[in-house]
Amino acid sequence: MSLFLDCVNGLKIERPPVWFMRQAGRYLSDYRRTRAKAGSFLDLCYNSDLATEVTLQPIEKFGFDAAILFADILLILDALGVNVQFVEGQGPLIEPVKEKKEIEKINNIHSIHEKLFPVYETVRKLKKELPTNVPLIGFAGAPWTLATYLINGKGEQGSLTAKRFLLENNKEFEEIIKLLTEATIEYLIMQIKAGADVIKIFDSWAGALNADMILRYSLQPIKKIVIEVKKKFPKTPFIVFPRSVNTIYSNFCDEACFDVLAVDQFLDRKWIASNIQPKKVIQGNLDPIFLTQKKEILMQELKKVTQDFKKHPYIFNLGHGITPDACVDNVELVVDYIKGLKF
Ligand code: CP3
Repeated sequence: MSLFLDCVNGLKIERPPVWFMRQAGRYLSDYRRTRAKAGSFLDLCYNSDLATEVTLQPIEKFGFDAAILFADILLILDALGVNVQFVEGQGPLIEPVKEKKEIEKINNIHSIHEKLFPVYETVRKLKKELPTNVPLIGFAGAPWTLATYLINGKGEQGSLTAKRFLLENNKEFEEIIKLLTEATIEYLIMQIKAGADVIKIFDSWAGALNADMILRYSLQPIKKIVIEVKKKFPKTPFIVFPRSVNTIYSNFCDEACFDVLAVDQFLDRKWIASNIQPKKVIQGNLDPIFLTQKKEILMQELKKVTQDFKKHPYIFNLGHGITPDACVDNVELVVDYIKGLKF
């Protein structure tokens, strides 16, 4: 067993486990080196030796309590036959899907595994390389977040293009969500078969939806994925991250099949501690900007976060992904501080 898995399963433990969203990334010089060797970002994701290498880098350097598979949520779109590119300095660029016939073109769920095979290979290699007390987190993007990239062709503040599509082409939109839900179920089953210990679902753009839409297009598809995957693997825990959904976190909290809720930095910690934490293991919340700040400012915040979440099982993490300008010494400081805590 491991501290991380004990905590995920709701057991009382002596200190919070610690890992970071996007812990393998550009803030690390080792990552930048391997990334240059691979060529493009997608080449890195599909090269199982190099993807294994970058997954392990932050584990060896900082001693995090969990590893996260190196891949990207958009690989599944690539595997569905949509042209995905990562443009230097701009982020992802996708051929947008605007019509039903384009949806039909990508409607080929069972063929995703051929393209995604290197990802499963990475999982298998990592299981051989990782220390037994460091579990491996597999992951996928939630259908809504994937749909925002698919419909708009790139990230968009407020996801307005996808929201308009949802309202104006509702039948097609629901078909897209259904297709992405089914493909994700298959993808995650394969990750677990290859050895992933825990699964995290990222709904990074859930907060762009209104309350009713969040329940219907963020929560429901995620629930369907978790239920279907758990039919095959009832013991695999799920971490669900519906970013920026405010008090609707309560509705996610009420779903018994979600094991851990990852919380962003926008939520009031006192509200989380009294409304969510008594019912559900939580993870997250440190605003990633503190990793770019002076030691004293970071320490002050670190003390507040850990104090506020002290009463119930808590996994230390950020409220969102680590940024390329994060200071490596600060990451070390956080891990040392958390490992020195006695809850
Ligand atoms: O340590 C890890 O967590 C690595 C695995 C990982 C990556 N992306 C690698 C990555 C994970 C779990 C993700 C998830 C992901 N990808 C999300 C959900 C989490 C979130 O941040 O909200 C989203 C929305 C994506 C899509 C994506 N990938 C975007 C929008 C971008 C460009 C923005 C950016 O940070 O550059 C990426 C690229 C990406 N994915 C990088 C990494 C390390 C940087 C690419 C590079 O090396 O050039």
